[in-house]
Amino acid sequence: MMFSMLLVIWIVLFDRHLFVKTTVIIDRASQNELYTNIMTLIEDTTIAEQTTVASSSENNEEIDTPVQLIDDIIELNIGGQKMTTLRSTLTVVPNSKLARMFSKDNIEKNLPMDKDGAVFFDYNPIYFTYLLDQLRVIKRMPEKPRYNLEFQVPYIGSQLNFTHMLVDLGLTPDYLLSPREGTHINLTVSSLVGWKECYRNTYDVPFDLSVLKKSCNGSQLLVACRPVNNKKILRLAGIGQMEDVFHPCLPKQCRINEKSKRKNRTLICSSNYQCITQAKRGVGWYNANNQTLGFVRGSLSFMIRPCDSSELDSDYRLCWTSQSIIRQGTGDRCGNAKNLQNSNKWERLIYYSV
Ligand SMILES: *[C@@H]1O[C@H](CO)[C@@H](O)[C@H](O)[C@H]1NC(C)=O
Ligand SMILES: *[C@@H]1O[C@H](CO)[C@@H](O)[C@H](O)[C@H]1NC(C)=O
Ligand SMILES: *[C@@H]1O[C@H](CO)[C@@H](O)[C@H](O)[C@H]1NC(C)=O
Ligand SMILES: *[C@@H]1O[C@H](CO)[C@@H](O)[C@H](O)[C@H]1NC(C)=O
Ligand SMILES: *[C@@H]1O[C@H](CO)[C@@H](O)[C@H](O)[C@H]1NC(C)=O
Repeated sequence: MMFSMLLVIWIVLFDRHLFVKTTVIIDRASQNELYTNIMTLIEDTTIAEQTTVASSSENNEEIDTPVQLIDDIIELNIGGQKMTTLRSTLTVVPNSKLARMFSKDNIEKNLPMDKDGAVFFDYNPIYFTYLLDQLRVIKRMPEKPRYNLEFQVPYIGSQLNFTHMLVDLGLTPDYLLSPREGTHINLTVSSLVGWKECYRNTYDVPFDLSVLKKSCNGSQLLVACRPVNNKKILRLAGIGQMEDVFHPCLPKQCRINEKSKRKNRTLICSSNYQCITQAKRGVGWYNANNQTLGFVRGSLSFMIRPCDSSELDSDYRLCWTSQSIIRQGTGDRCGNAKNLQNSNKWERLIYYSV
């Protein structure tokens, strides 16, 4: 809408009688460019949402529903100006200081309040309003980009002061709190405070699960992958407790060997595995016979042969195998990049934290 208004204004400009107004309008146009960007974002988001719904409804795999946010109304006093928003808006970047301030388990305990009980921040209200608008846009995105955020400054010249506010609120990449759970896309390596790298190799080097016990002896693991050409970002990462990572898959299609004698029946199983994950803080880990390791987002049920080739929620699926016999299309993956077992363009990384 903003965009079409601009168009109208430009058309009006062709009328020479209105020429006097030109300078004013150009100033507004440069400011409004930012809003146009945001509008475009919202449009993109809507399309993505529709496709997500379509793909999950035609598939029988089930994803556990995201944790319901307690959404209450928060009164703020920003530099003397009252503002009202939802808790879910303030907590939309979960690893930010801002989100921690307003998280359920920190009900504004340590935050300064004015005499009406509104949380007080000593910032220019224009800056904060501008930030709030962008947080609202992020909230509408199905794949909320929580780690690579870039906030737009309200106007030229406000960069420094606006950034000071972002730093205070822990919303710049360097000040984001280190991730401690969940699956992440495009996670900034510099945000991994407290994590130690213990394994890194390209996909063409076979992965041996014993490295986890040998080199990555911590209570938590971060298992990640990325294209080798971008060392600043992990394309996909999953975080879990060491013991959860080993959640076993079941051999598929086991049947009793009818030929054997009654008291000594044996099971005959096919080489495929049926993995039924149980989401642990959002991550569904699986391990098939210590030969295939991976995760998906949430609780799902699927086959691996020897890796996971499913298209459902594919950006959030990682699978590594040490098996050498790989059927067409079912090799190692990093999100939607598949069959990477011979690739030196992609790498596996593991970090641990004690
Ligand atoms: C930023 O803050 C300084 C004072 O710290 C002030 O002098 C300056 O005008 C502010 N800049 C803008 C663009 O608001
Ligand atoms: C992650 O980064 C890649 C490469 O820059 C990009 O193609 C992809 O869309 C990004 N995904 C998300 C969810 O940000
Ligand atoms: C792993 O760490 C625990 C606790 O720090 C320690 O007790 C154990 O010996 C370590 N195991 C190995 C194999 O290093
Ligand atoms: C049971 O079967 C296994 C192999 O299937 C065999 O090694 C074992 O000796 C059998 N035991 C008895 C008591 O028949
Ligand atoms: C897998 O590895 C773990 C520890 O490294 C071991 O305790 C377990 O017995 C192994 N499982 C199989 C099926 O080999």
